[in-house]
Amino acid sequence: MFVKNCWYVAGWDYDLPQGKVLARTIIDRQLALYRKQDGGVVAIEDRCCHRHAALHLGQIEGDCIRCMYHGLKFDPSGRCVDIPGQDRISPKAVIRSYPVVERDNWIWVWMGDPALADPNLIPFSVGPGDPDWDMRPSSLVFDADYRLVVDNLLDFSHITYVHRKTFGGEQFSDGLPKITKLDRGFRVERWLRNAPALVFIEHIMTGRYDMLVDYSVLMPCVFVMRFKIFAAGTATEGPSNGQLLLDTWTCQSVVPATADQCVYYFSWGASKETATPEIGDLLYAGINKAFLEDKEMIEAQHRNIKLQPDLPMIGIAHDAAVNQMRILMNRFIEAESAGIAAE
Ligand code: FES
Ligand SMILES: [Fe+2]
Repeated sequence: MFVKNCWYVAGWDYDLPQGKVLARTIIDRQLALYRKQDGGVVAIEDRCCHRHAALHLGQIEGDCIRCMYHGLKFDPSGRCVDIPGQDRISPKAVIRSYPVVERDNWIWVWMGDPALADPNLIPFSVGPGDPDWDMRPSSLVFDADYRLVVDNLLDFSHITYVHRKTFGGEQFSDGLPKITKLDRGFRVERWLRNAPALVFIEHIMTGRYDMLVDYSVLMPCVFVMRFKIFAAGTATEGPSNGQLLLDTWTCQSVVPATADQCVYYFSWGASKETATPEIGDLLYAGINKAFLEDKEMIEAQHRNIKLQPDLPMIGIAHDAAVNQMRILMNRFIEAESAGIAAE
């Protein structure tokens, strides 16, 4: 159920200060992450090759980490470089090390074949460090299959119902968005015309607006959305900017830990040209509240599916992107297990 040959977010950069060892579970693998003296991130198997103790309980020594059970020490490549009480170190004394890239304030880890770890496959995103955008980062743990969260992101009709108190947006379940196939996912676009602003900013944005929702969901679980609000009647399809009142990005990644748990890293923020810090506060509070609404719905859905996994589901028109993404994911997973690259 997991794609291996892809970059997964292991956390925000601020989750990993110098001197800390971070434990993460990604696609059923335990990782320990820490920083070398030059600040570069090391991601290694969180399992000592001696008696399988957890290395996140270890001690950083220079660029190396020492298992604090019986003292074996490993370098950033995972090779054992010290065994207390003996001179000879077997070449088998090695643990797995994973390729890591820090980009846009996210720590990305490649979980598959290291020879295929191409940094160009890291999706575009706007991080909290971008000087032009007031991005606010956050994260939540969902006790659910990550694919249910990806489904949720590919079908915004749920906004009308799940987020009726936070986002509102009756038009989300009306009509269908435009869906375009991308190399590694799908782009979803829709206009909401002459609509009230989202519920959580209605008190400062009264009246009616045109809103553009334009996002991509990329293999296996990265979501990047541009959301813009224009004065009603001023925005046209295409490159026209209309009378732009609020311009935002939200960048999100749903990272599978196990079959039953995922970690949701997300941010939302406005361009500094169109927003005040107050708007930034509202977006941050709004997205955190809304994602707790998703969490409640999706965790309950996950429990239902776990209890009776073979019961059939029915399809509706809004499932189009959800279904296409599942087909794409399965194609990647099958191609990996067959040892060939998916197209
Ligand atoms: S389990 Fe790590 S040194 Fe023994
Ligand atoms: Fe949602």
